[in-house]
Amino acid sequence: MTSDAAYSLGQGTNPALDRPLEPHSEPSRARPIPRINIQAFCEDQDTAAVIQKASEDRRLAKAHVTVQMGGVQAAVAFYRNASTPNLIIIESLLDRTDLLGDLDRLAEVCDPGTKVVAVGHINDVLLYRELLRRGVSEYVVAPVSVLQVIESISTIYTDPQTGPVGQVIAFVGAKGGSGSSTVCHNTAFAIASALKSDVVIADFDLPFGTAGLDFNQDPIQGIADALATPERLDEVLLDRLLSRCSDHLSLFAAPGTLDRAYDLDPQSCETVLDVVRENVPWIAVDVPHLWTAWAKQVVLRADHVVITAAPDLANLRNAKNLVDQLKATRPNDRAPLLVLNQVGVPKRPEISVKDFGQAIELEPKAIIEFDAQLFGTAANNGQMIEEVSDKAKAAEQFRNLANLLTDRSEQKSERSSILAPILGRLRLTKTSTKRDVW
Ligand SMILES: Nc1ncnc2c1ncn2[C@@H]1O[C@H](COP(=O)(O)OP(=O)(O)OP(=O)(O)O)[C@@H](O)[C@H]1O
Ligand SMILES: [Mg+2]
Repeated sequence: MTSDAAYSLGQGTNPALDRPLEPHSEPSRARPIPRINIQAFCEDQDTAAVIQKASEDRRLAKAHVTVQMGGVQAAVAFYRNASTPNLIIIESLLDRTDLLGDLDRLAEVCDPGTKVVAVGHINDVLLYRELLRRGVSEYVVAPVSVLQVIESISTIYTDPQTGPVGQVIAFVGAKGGSGSSTVCHNTAFAIASALKSDVVIADFDLPFGTAGLDFNQDPIQGIADALATPERLDEVLLDRLLSRCSDHLSLFAAPGTLDRAYDLDPQSCETVLDVVRENVPWIAVDVPHLWTAWAKQVVLRADHVVITAAPDLANLRNAKNLVDQLKATRPNDRAPLLVLNQVGVPKRPEISVKDFGQAIELEPKAIIEFDAQLFGTAANNGQMIEEVSDKAKAAEQFRNLANLLTDRSEQKSERSSILAPILGRLRLTKTSTKRDVW
C-alpha cells in the first residue's frame, strides 16, 4: 500500500481520529475492498488523516491508497496528464453551486469507469440528490470517521447493482503459436505498470502454459487448485493461490505438468473467474488454442476479446470464424480487438495487413513485427518486452493495447473539450462494452 500523504499524522487535534473505531453498538459489516486504486484529494488535514487511517484498516489492505491535499483543483490538474484510478475521493469546502461546478470540471478529465466519492462540508439534501444524479457514488458530510470512509467504499464495491469490480479480457490465438500468450502477458504487464491498475493473469493453458516461465515464477499452487475445488475459492484462498509478479501484477499460474488430464468444467471456469473479478479490476485470461466447451464459454463471456493472428491463410480463416462467432453471439459488445503478430518474417510470403483487415472486416489495432532477437531474449530471460527494451516498437504497441482495453485511448486534451457531466463518464463503466469504439 502506498501513501503519499502530504501531511503528518498526529499533528493538531482531530476529533474524528480520536473517536473510537466502533462507536456503534453493532459491529461494522463492511466487506474487504478489492485490489483497486484509490486516490484522495483533501482540503482539510483532518479529513486527510482520517482517510489515511482508513487506508491502514485490514479491509483496505489490498487497495492502493494515496492521499494528497489540494481538493478538486489539485485533482483536475493532476488528471490532465494522468489516468484516473478506480475511485477518487474528493473533498470540497465549497457551497452547492461551486462544488457542482468543480465536480463538472473533474468529470472532464475522468476516465470512464472511475467512481467518485465526495466529502463536503454542507449537509444539503438538494446537493446530495444533484451529486447522485451526476453519478457521484457517495456524498459524505465532514467530519468523517474512519469507519464511515471504509463503509462508503465497501458499499460501492459490494453493491450488487454496481456489479463486480473486475473486467475479463480473453486473449485467444487464431492459430497455435501465433503469439497470443505473449500478447496477453505483455499487455497485462502494460496495464499493471503503465496504468498502475491491478491485473491478474489467469493462465488457462494448464498443461503447457508459459505465464510462469515468462515472469520467472514457479509457484507450487495456482489455477489448477482453484479449478479443482471452485466452491472453496474465496478472497483468502485466492490470495494464497496468486503469485505476485510486481506491485500491480499477479499470476494465477498453470501447473505446466502432464501427470493428469485437464478436462475443465465450464461452470468451474466461470466460478473461478467470478471470484477473481470480485477482487481485481483486470483479469487477462490466457486461453489456449482450443475450442472446447469451457474455452468457448470463457471467450464468449469475456468483457473484451483480443484475437492474435499471424498473417497467413490458416490464421485468416480462423480469425474470420472467431470474429463472426463473436459478432453473432455478442451483438451488443465491442468488436474483438485484432492483433496482427509476427509480421515480416524474412522471406515468408504473407497476407498484407490491409488485405487481412479487409477480409475479416476488422482493422488490426496492433501490428507487431516479427523480431526473433527481441522476443527470444524476453522469453528466455523470463522478461517482458518492456523490460528488455522499453523503446521497442512492440513495447509501444503493448502500451497502446493496454490503453485501448482500459478505455484510456482518448487524449485528455480532446476530452477536456467535451463538457460531459460525471454521469456520462461514470455510466460508461457498464455501457462502454456497447460502444463501437473499435
Ligand atoms: N512478434 C514476435 N516476433 C518473434 N517471436 C515472437 C513474436 N511473438 C511471439 N513470438 C514467439 O513465438 C512463440 C510462440 O508464442 P506464444 O507462446 O505467445 O504463442 P501462443 O499463440 O500462445 O501459442 P500456443 O498456441 O502454444 O498457446 C514464443 O516463442 C514467442 O516468444
Ligand atoms: Mg499460448
